[in-house]
Amino acid sequence: MSWGLQNRLNRIIRPDTKRTVMLAIDHGYFLGPTSGLEEPEKTIVPLLPHADALMLTRGILRQCIPPTSNTPIVLRVSGGSSILGKLDNEGITTSIQEAIRLNVSAVTLSIFVGAEHEKQTLMNLSQLVNEAEAYDTPVLAVTAVGKDMGRDARYLGLCCRIAAELGAHFVKTYYCEDFEQVVTGCPVPIVVAGGKKTPEKEALELAHNAIQQGAVGVDMGRNIFQSEAPHAMIQAVRKIVHKNASVNEAYDLFQTLKNQK
Ligand code: R5P
Repeated sequence: MSWGLQNRLNRIIRPDTKRTVMLAIDHGYFLGPTSGLEEPEKTIVPLLPHADALMLTRGILRQCIPPTSNTPIVLRVSGGSSILGKLDNEGITTSIQEAIRLNVSAVTLSIFVGAEHEKQTLMNLSQLVNEAEAYDTPVLAVTAVGKDMGRDARYLGLCCRIAAELGAHFVKTYYCEDFEQVVTGCPVPIVVAGGKKTPEKEALELAHNAIQQGAVGVDMGRNIFQSEAPHAMIQAVRKIVHKNASVNEAYDLFQTLKNQK
């Protein structure tokens, strides 16, 4: 791997722990002003010091994130669909030159395996890898499966492996039963999404299980920014990811920090 590409990846996956806590706030690219992100700046800016990287679109980056921020950016460059249409009908929305101008550390897009536009999204990934590697910029592939397919180890393992085979440098997927099989079959690092909002302790359990079974970290959104105490939740997640804390230790930290405010 070239020096530039390795250096950018090291900004996201911390070399000291070989893990990462990414904060995902790109939901608006198909959901609009989703709960907790109606005014992204208010929710997200206080969390920036606790995030190893921030995943978002160029519009929210330019409008809501101060250019004084040092938090590495993972820029979503796919879109073109909405919650009202066919989600898998995506194209590339942002050029690699624009991503470089925005000084991002990686670019990201979704692939939809088993969906109507599967081939289109896999070709998007292949094209993005071709273009991003010319600038030594890593690509994160976000896996989604077709509507009728379970989010299980068989299908998520299929998605992650295809993403790696097409050249993704790291992959984001969902936690599932037998998650270690997904990790074993994927030769690049995996980060897990948090999924829909659950009670804080359950989200911490998910993070803990994923790390124990080989994920290099989380790329968590709703379970942080929709938490009753986002600043406490992200620090509790960090304790699991970077300090190998137990779920109870992390939950105690969450309660302490929540009550401090
Ligand atoms: C999905 O397409 C986006 O990348 C989301 O940002 C992400 O998967 C959601 O994160 P979470 O499930 O933790 O809210």
